[in-house]
Amino acid sequence: MSLDRSLSKILIIDFGSQFTQLIARRIRELGVFSEIVSHKKIKNNDINHSIRGIILSGGPLNVYEINKYSFDKRIIENSIPVLGICFGHQILSKLNGGKVKQSKHREFGLANIIRKKDCLLTKNFFKTKKVKVWMSHADQVSKLPKNFKVVASSQNSKFAIVENKSKKFYGVQFHPEVTHTENGKKLISNFIFLICKIKRNWSSKDQKKKLINDVKKQVGGNKVLCALSGGVDSSVVAQLLNKAIGKKLYCIFVNTGLLRKNEEKQVVETFKKKLKINLIYVNAEKEFIKKLTNVSDPEKKRKIIGNLFIKIFERYAKRIKDVKFLAQGTLYPDLIESKSVTGSQTSKIKSHHNVGGLPKKMKLQLVEPLKFLFKDEVRKLGLELNLSKEIISRHPFPGPGLAIRMPGIITKEKINILKEADHYFIKALKDYGLYHKIWQAYAALLPVKTVGVMGDNRTYEYLCLLRAITSEDGMTADFFEFKKSFSQMISNKIVNSIRGINRVVYDITSKPPSTIELE
Ligand code: XMP
Repeated sequence: MSLDRSLSKILIIDFGSQFTQLIARRIRELGVFSEIVSHKKIKNNDINHSIRGIILSGGPLNVYEINKYSFDKRIIENSIPVLGICFGHQILSKLNGGKVKQSKHREFGLANIIRKKDCLLTKNFFKTKKVKVWMSHADQVSKLPKNFKVVASSQNSKFAIVENKSKKFYGVQFHPEVTHTENGKKLISNFIFLICKIKRNWSSKDQKKKLINDVKKQVGGNKVLCALSGGVDSSVVAQLLNKAIGKKLYCIFVNTGLLRKNEEKQVVETFKKKLKINLIYVNAEKEFIKKLTNVSDPEKKRKIIGNLFIKIFERYAKRIKDVKFLAQGTLYPDLIESKSVTGSQTSKIKSHHNVGGLPKKMKLQLVEPLKFLFKDEVRKLGLELNLSKEIISRHPFPGPGLAIRMPGIITKEKINILKEADHYFIKALKDYGLYHKIWQAYAALLPVKTVGVMGDNRTYEYLCLLRAITSEDGMTADFFEFKKSFSQMISNKIVNSIRGINRVVYDITSKPPSTIELE
């Protein structure tokens, strides 16, 4: 395998941990370049002078079954500092003559470690004698190798931090890369700056350049189709590809008729007119509405919409001719739960589904330049690519759009009512300075009519549900608490302005047990 030689780096050898990309992310945050490689692929011949330090990641393997998998152990004999994390700590000990066995007490979650001695790795790490760290292991080092010293211990892990000072080998049984570990970033910073003595060499500008170069390398002179929804991730991918391959990029934006008010105009205005991106605008409103007529089952709606997206992409890929690649805005959290990104054996937690599984059918190769990044990093990259703050700080909007915010059957009349309600709600959030305090907000139209009174007349109209949540990543969420004055104002605005709605309710469930969307 060929590793980049031009930049000094920290090499992260991945043994399949769920957290490997978090290690890389912490190192990026510290302004240093790092590269992740699978333990199966890296060989001693690949080690070059640009590698200033090696981190061995955690993983689901058992060290004592080392014969069951491959790792070129000469890699750690190159006089390069090594930090082993969890499984990495165990394998480092084992390779140096120590012993690893199943722990009597498994440790998952927070544990206190207690300082036993000082070392460079822990400089300013212990603010008091104890530090709370995040453990996740069933095995542990049971006998230290020669010339290793204990730096810190927990109740169940005598060798929680260990050091071989002359070889610059360090092992930690816990995960310094996760935020639950107090001061964990300090430990990583000490390893890379004090022990590996690497200098800062990485910024979001460098990241942008690298991603553009990587895309160029991957696609060569071929045409790329990019499914653009106007959301943050696909917008960043489109702009990145635009910078990388210009006219060879064909963005396709499908108006499903289930978008937010004026969304199609905004996307065309931004991408075609302002950013001069090669954009194909497809008005498939009628096709979508026709296929969805009388469908009320949420899963059926999703399938119909997913399949129709595929058909439309296929249709346009054929028209463009010779399209080899399909670009997607997949992010790292989307991938990690379904498979390992480096080829190491991450445990499968759930299968991630992308928009209708389109690549298989179309036989297109995937271009996923953001697949190693986290959402906030994508937002920073977007800024670096000159996308407006407005685009990159938008609330998420699901592929099936308003269809899943309208339980029951979908009609043109209901879509129009919902578009208006959502528009008023989002506008009010912006006007009142609340939009950026909320992770996601929307209006939904419930398939229920209730009685109201307006003037002296009876009304019998739809129920509008408002949802606004706070969240870190959409996996869990809590409802946002509005002041009564805001609630009153928005309820009045919606009922007074929109014919068809005479009652507004606010969703006060968290996720779990609810989900963010209604369907
Ligand atoms: P739920 O409703 O599962 O949503 O709590 C979590 C986040 O995912 C978004 N979402 C989707 N995004 N296609 C998408 O691109 C979909 O089918 C889809 N379903 C839900 C949802 O808006 C929220 O941000």
